[in-house]
Amino acid sequence: MRGAKTVAIRTAGFPQPAHHMSSFPERVFSGVQSTGNLHLGNYLGAIVKFVELQKTHDCLYCVVDLHAITVPQDPLTLRDNTREIAAAFIACGIDPKKNIVFNQSQVPEHAELAWVLNCIARIGWLNRMTQFKDKAGKDRENASIGLYDYPVLMAADILIYRATHVPVGEDQKQHLELARDIAQKFNNDFAESISRNGFGEAFFPLPEPLISGPATRVMSLRDGSKKMSKSDASEYSRINLSDDAEQIAQKIRKAKTDPEPLPSEEKGLEGRAEAANLVGIFAALSGREKTGVLAEYGGANFSTFKNALVDLAVEKLSPITAEMRKITANHDYIDTVLRDGAERARALANENMKAVKDIVGFLR
Ligand code: TYM
Repeated sequence: MRGAKTVAIRTAGFPQPAHHMSSFPERVFSGVQSTGNLHLGNYLGAIVKFVELQKTHDCLYCVVDLHAITVPQDPLTLRDNTREIAAAFIACGIDPKKNIVFNQSQVPEHAELAWVLNCIARIGWLNRMTQFKDKAGKDRENASIGLYDYPVLMAADILIYRATHVPVGEDQKQHLELARDIAQKFNNDFAESISRNGFGEAFFPLPEPLISGPATRVMSLRDGSKKMSKSDASEYSRINLSDDAEQIAQKIRKAKTDPEPLPSEEKGLEGRAEAANLVGIFAALSGREKTGVLAEYGGANFSTFKNALVDLAVEKLSPITAEMRKITANHDYIDTVLRDGAERARALANENMKAVKDIVGFLR
């Protein structure tokens, strides 16, 4: 039965009464930034999982435009990028009727809860976030406060729905750990009020990251030590979901490799980042494990393997690209989907925000 499963929350580290286990109905939340250049890493690391989870769970999938403006965005491009991500969700197979698909800025409770959580999260916790360090680079003094606070807003995205499971790529793991810490500290700091208001032992679940499969960290096609990213200056570093068959083929053929043939076992990929990456991509696109792929292609040279990968990638991605183009062109349709999704999301968010206000002690 949908929504009836429950998940036990861990409460290690904080003093808890003996009957400390609380349970929450399972709910999935995840987000993708509306910053353009949606790529194979986003698809294999996240969106493929979104599509899978809709079969078993109640899911909310959000285009996070509030996160996008943590770095400067051109207003007209931002709108189109938001539509493009929503179109990609649908083109990849997410059903916007069955799930809630929306853009973050249409649900003000995300930002509202983020403020409360800003007062829970500690500066020391945020100072440990490696993504901020990477993105801010050397000129940290000049980064926006939004960029620094980004992970707290992310925690609010998840917790405003009391979501229990969050499918993401490997790079978001640290942010998910922070979200759990924030949830736990809120539950702990307000334990008495949470109980007084009838919410039992804990108001927020500790959200579980779902990070699995052969492509949780897809690397740049030009440099196996760098992750595939929207902001890499080289177009050849990534396959965009908007690329046509010719572009996909060119990028794969130009992908960096080494002179050795492929190994027949996974151990043989150690120290061969580029080879490991292409094998991981192949495995994920074909719904297999790396071991299976290597059993088939072990001993083959890269030109053979790349040809097979081109065929596979084009076969899997071209229908998505075509569908995405069709949907992206229909602004009215996308805008209606997002508005409808936002309305349904707001109904849930508003209930939980009211509860937070009661717990924290705000009059309403
Ligand atoms: P974003 O927009 O950078 O990326 C969207 C999703 O794609 C995953 N991803 C990758 N997976 C594998 N290999 C890669 N090279 C790769 N690059 C990106 C990301 O892990 C992510 O799952 N902070 C998030 C957006 C967000 C969010 C949230 C996610 C905001 N609020 C709440 C979950 C829950 C981000 O920047 O994603």
